[in-house]
Amino acid sequence: VTTEIDGFGALVTGGAGGFGTSIARRLAGDGAAVTLFGRTRSTLEMASERIAAELPDALPVRWIVGDAASEEDVQRAVAEADASRDLRIAVCTVGGGTMAPLMAITADILRQDFDRNVITALHTIRHAAAVMVPHGGGSIICTSSTAGGFSYPFMGSYSVAKHALEALVQVAADELGAFDIRVNAVRPGLVPTKAAKPGILVTDPQQRATVLREKPLARVGTADDISAAVRYLAGPEAAWVTGAVLPVEGGNHLRRAADLEKLARQVCGDEVIDQALRGRIPGGAA
Ligand SMILES: NC(=O)c1ccc[n+]([C@@H]2O[C@H](COP(=O)([O-])OP(=O)(O)OC[C@H]3O[C@@H](n4cnc5c(N)ncnc54)[C@H](OP(=O)(O)O)[C@@H]3O)[C@@H](O)[C@H]2O)c1
Repeated sequence: VTTEIDGFGALVTGGAGGFGTSIARRLAGDGAAVTLFGRTRSTLEMASERIAAELPDALPVRWIVGDAASEEDVQRAVAEADASRDLRIAVCTVGGGTMAPLMAITADILRQDFDRNVITALHTIRHAAAVMVPHGGGSIICTSSTAGGFSYPFMGSYSVAKHALEALVQVAADELGAFDIRVNAVRPGLVPTKAAKPGILVTDPQQRATVLREKPLARVGTADDISAAVRYLAGPEAAWVTGAVLPVEGGNHLRRAADLEKLARQVCGDEVIDQALRGRIPGGAA
């Protein structure tokens, strides 16, 4: 099937992940030559084989092992992907966050969440843009979160990092527009994947009802909901869209942030949460 992204080179960071694999499958299904990038050879290999089995007519899905937080690794991955097929699409899915109340967030935790979500995207945006300029343009899509649009109690460092990522997307869109490089973000809501272990948020009936009340379209999302939005932003259908942040979360942005206290108590322990809610630094640490 020939579509508008047929034959485009595409790099997906975190390509073996929940979102990454769904995005790769979607892009490959529409004819792109996809390269997955991640730190674990076995999971990349498995994801690539799974897509090949599901889409026997698609171009082979390649993979490259590396760390998205390492500029050298990202530069190498971009160069290899571009050498196999002109890179016109780059999708950054690497990210994740720490569950901790504000009073337990240390500088190290904040730096770690910033590195995972912002520095990884910065490397990909810069190096992908550098190869897209001579190709006459391209599309870069980053993965934010509902936490990038709300204050997000109990995941504060993640929220700070995703807000920063959205600011990075906007400035990159502004500066790279001159080269017809579009930079956009999706802002997914909760989707159970390996990284997002929502636990009681979806298993506990009371908590699940709260989660659904946060969304006008009252259901939990799927990775395919996210990859459909990424596919739109990647292709020429979105040729005049840049610097946008597209919420893909059932309308959650119209209502309120997730109530994470119960989950935070499971993850961090009651002692940490009780101390934090009394305005104390848990464990008395500075
Ligand atoms: N799932 C949700 O509910 C949800 C909601 C909103 C936003 N998000 C965001 O969506 C993105 C993807 O989430 P997901 O649920 O798909 O996570 P996931 O299933 O854990 O996938 C993340 C992938 O990234 C890879 N990765 C992690 N660190 C890396 C690094 N430094 N360098 C290269 N690869 C790395 C992981 O593989 P290796 O560990 O083998 O490298 C994994 O394959 C994240 O940015 C997350 O913040 C998720």
